[in-house]
Amino acid sequence: VYCNKHTGGVSTKMETDKKSKAENVPGYGDCDLSEQIKAATKDSHVRAENTQLMLSYQRGQITLQQYKLLLCSLYEIYRALEEELDRNSSHPGVAPIYFPQELARLESLEKDLEYFYGESWRDRIIVPAATHRYTQRLRKVGKENPEFLVAHAYTRYLGDLSGGQVLGRITQKSLGLASGEGLSFFSFPGVTSPNRFKQLYRSRMNSIELTKEEREGVLEEAVRAFEFNIEVFDDLQKLLSVTEKETDVRQRHTTHNNNYMPH
Ligand code: HEM
Repeated sequence: VYCNKHTGGVSTKMETDKKSKAENVPGYGDCDLSEQIKAATKDSHVRAENTQLMLSYQRGQITLQQYKLLLCSLYEIYRALEEELDRNSSHPGVAPIYFPQELARLESLEKDLEYFYGESWRDRIIVPAATHRYTQRLRKVGKENPEFLVAHAYTRYLGDLSGGQVLGRITQKSLGLASGEGLSFFSFPGVTSPNRFKQLYRSRMNSIELTKEEREGVLEEAVRAFEFNIEVFDDLQKLLSVTEKETDVRQRHTTHNNNYMPH
């Protein structure tokens, strides 16, 4: 596991003090959680980037139908994530990384859904099975292991502040949207510099006191969080290919019927 301490990185006294619990364990705690979580999810990140949905995205081939469906899933995911973070905001494993002003996405997703689906968007939310499983896991973690919520918050929010910024520009271009229209999800008015904020977020993650078992649990949960995202993307892709096939059949029917339309 890559660790900046091994390469001479420095951490503040406060961070060092707070890590003492983990440092009591031999061979453990000599690396920051932020470094470990990044290393632990490196392969998962590559797999997430290479899902069909993310590949079409990067090629600028995202369609309006795909994007609208993705927004529905993101809405369900952030609703569960943010409800659990809010409920556990004073838990010692959550408080340091609780940044609702800067990061909360639920309202921005509601705005975007209204833009794309209209006023009755709530009746039109589609929740694929994988999205449902992801939200169930978030609620279970929130209730039973709030100290693992950091893994889920890291996976979504740091992703949104990283590759997510590029994806926002691609979405705008692919869907031909006017600047900012339907794109609130990608905009973080409370974050002036995503890179500086990511640094702050990492140092807050590193200040969380975790036992060896808890730390291992967080790393495992982060890999799981990526896995849930991959499954959501794959499920959306499947759902869309079914709808596309249905559309094809309908079109073939129409063409067929047209060919034999009585004059
Ligand atoms: C970081 C790109 C998808 C989660 C990053 C970074 C880039 C990037 C360029 C910055 C790396 C760095 O600072 O070292 C992309 C692209 C994606 C994609 C192009 C898809 C098209 C995802 C997905 C997730 C995700 C689907 C999870 C749901 C993260 C996280 C980080 C990150 C958590 C922060 C890593 C850290 O600094 O610890 N991504 N990403 N990314 N991405 Fe992605």
